[in-house]
Amino acid sequence: MGGTIYHAYVRSFRDSDGDGYGDLGGLIERFDHLVDLGVTALWLSPITRSPDHDWGYDVSDYLDVHPELGTLDDVDRLVDVAARQGVRVVLDLIPNHTSARHPWFVEASSSRSSPKRDYYVWADAQRDGSSPNNWVDDTGQSAWTWDATTSQYYMHNFLDLQPDLNWWNPRVHDEFDRIIDFWLDRGVAGFRIDVANGLYHDRALRDNPRNPRAVIWDTEVQGRYGIEHVHNFNQPEVHDVYRRWRARAEARCTPALLMGETWVARVDELAAYYGDDDELQLALNFPFLFAPFEPPALARIVADSVSAFPAGACMVWAGSNHDLPRAASRWANGDHRRIRLIQTLLATLPGTYVLYYGDELGMTDSDIPDHLHRDPLTAGRLNGQWPRDNARAPMRWDASPTGGFTTGHPWLPVHPVVEHNVADQTVDPNSTLALVRSLISLRRQHLSDPASSYREVHVDAHRWVFDSGPLRVSANFSDDDVPFDAGGDPLLSSLGPTPGASGSLRAWEAVVSRRRGDEG
Ligand code: GLC
Repeated sequence: MGGTIYHAYVRSFRDSDGDGYGDLGGLIERFDHLVDLGVTALWLSPITRSPDHDWGYDVSDYLDVHPELGTLDDVDRLVDVAARQGVRVVLDLIPNHTSARHPWFVEASSSRSSPKRDYYVWADAQRDGSSPNNWVDDTGQSAWTWDATTSQYYMHNFLDLQPDLNWWNPRVHDEFDRIIDFWLDRGVAGFRIDVANGLYHDRALRDNPRNPRAVIWDTEVQGRYGIEHVHNFNQPEVHDVYRRWRARAEARCTPALLMGETWVARVDELAAYYGDDDELQLALNFPFLFAPFEPPALARIVADSVSAFPAGACMVWAGSNHDLPRAASRWANGDHRRIRLIQTLLATLPGTYVLYYGDELGMTDSDIPDHLHRDPLTAGRLNGQWPRDNARAPMRWDASPTGGFTTGHPWLPVHPVVEHNVADQTVDPNSTLALVRSLISLRRQHLSDPASSYREVHVDAHRWVFDSGPLRVSANFSDDDVPFDAGGDPLLSSLGPTPGASGSLRAWEAVVSRRRGDEG
C-alpha cells in the first residue's frame, strides 16, 4: 500500500514461446522493465485454467495455471524473481462466479440432488415459464438461463457460461479459504478481487427497480440497461466475507493484500468496503474513473473519498483497466500533454497508484477491426457495448512489425502506434516512459506513507491545485498558459525537464513542488 501497482494483462505483455499469447515466461524475461519503473507490486490478470469465454474470468480450476500462460513452476519462478527485486505479486481472484465448465457446476447441473447443487443460484420458472425475476446480466440479457436437465434456471451476472456462486452456502466460503491459502502458501502477496461488490444476491429474488439513469457511466446510480442493480450486487452480507478474509490475510507473517474491484457508483458505498479497517485494504475507485476529465468533477470525488473513507484508509487511483477505454483515449483523446498530465495526477494523489500496462508509454486504445475481436463478452457489441479488446492490445517493446511482443502471430494485433514502444522511449529523456519513471521515484521519496494527507488548495474549471503529503501539485487543464505560484521548490513538470521555468503553468501542464517549510 502507498506504492505503485503494475497491472499486467498477461496475454498482452510479452510472449516467451512464440504462440502469440503473452505468458508468465514473458513477464519473467521482461521483469527488468518493472524494476526500471520502480513498481512495488505486480497484479496479474487471471492466470488459472479457463475455457476463456471471458479470458480467464471464467475459471475452470482455481488451483492450476492455464497451459497457454505457463505452469505452477513459472508462478514460483516469477514470485522468486519479483521478491529479489522487492516486488510483490498479486493475483486476480474470481469469487463471484465460475466457468460453466468448472467441475462444481458440471456436478451441480447434473441433478437437483447433487451435493454441489447449492454451490450455485437456482430458481424455478414463474408460472408462465419465464425467468424468476427481471435481473439482467452484463450483456443486457436476462441474468437467468434455463437448465433443461434439471428444469430450473441458474443465475449469472455475466455470461451464461459464468454461473454465479451461491455465497449463502457456507461450503463456498470454505472452498475459497482453501484457494486463498493455496496461493498465499506459494508466496503470492495477495489478490485483486474480481466483482468484489457481487457475491451475494437477494435471497427473496426480488425484482430490481427500473431507472433510465442506470447506465454504465453514471456516477450516482448503480446499474445498466435501465435497471438498478439493487438486489444482485452490493448486498450487506458481502462485508462479512471481507472481514473473514482480512483476518486470514493479517494472520500471515506479511499481511496479504486485498484489493477489490469495487464497482460501485457512489463514494460512500465504496468507503464501506474498507470497513473499520477490517475489510479490504484497497478499493478501486470507479466514481473517479467514470468522472469527466475536469478539475471540479475529479477534485470532488477525491475530496468526497477523503471525507467518506475511514481514517488511515489508503486510497487507490487508476485511470485505465482491461474493461474500459484507456485514460489516454477516454480522458486525453490521444493528446500527449493530457496523457502526461493524467499520469502526473494519478501518481501524486496520496495512496496507491495503479498503472495499467502500456500507460507508461502513453498507450491509447486500439481500433481493432471487428473480425479480429477475441472478447466474447463484447465482440458482438450487444446492446452497444464497447469492445474491450481495444484496451488489450499487445504491448510494443520495439519498433519492429510485431513490436518485439512475439516471434509468432499475436493473438490480437499489436498496438498500432509505433512510438509507444519501450526501446525508443527508454533512450528518450522526454518520453512518457521517462516521466512515469520519474514520477514513481518521486512517489517513493515523498509519498510512501499510504495515508499521506490531501488538501484542496484551489479548484476552478481549468485548474486543480492540491497538497499531497509534502508535495504541492498544480495542474492546468486548459489550452492557455496561466500564472502560477509553485508554492515551494519545483521538482517535476509533466511537460519537461525544467519545472516552472517560465513562471507560468503551460497548457495542460502539471508541476509538482516540494512545499516550502514542509519537511513532513
Ligand atoms: C470483472 C472483470 C471483467 C470480467 C468480469 C466478469 O469486471 O474485470 O474483465 O469480464 O469481471 O468476470
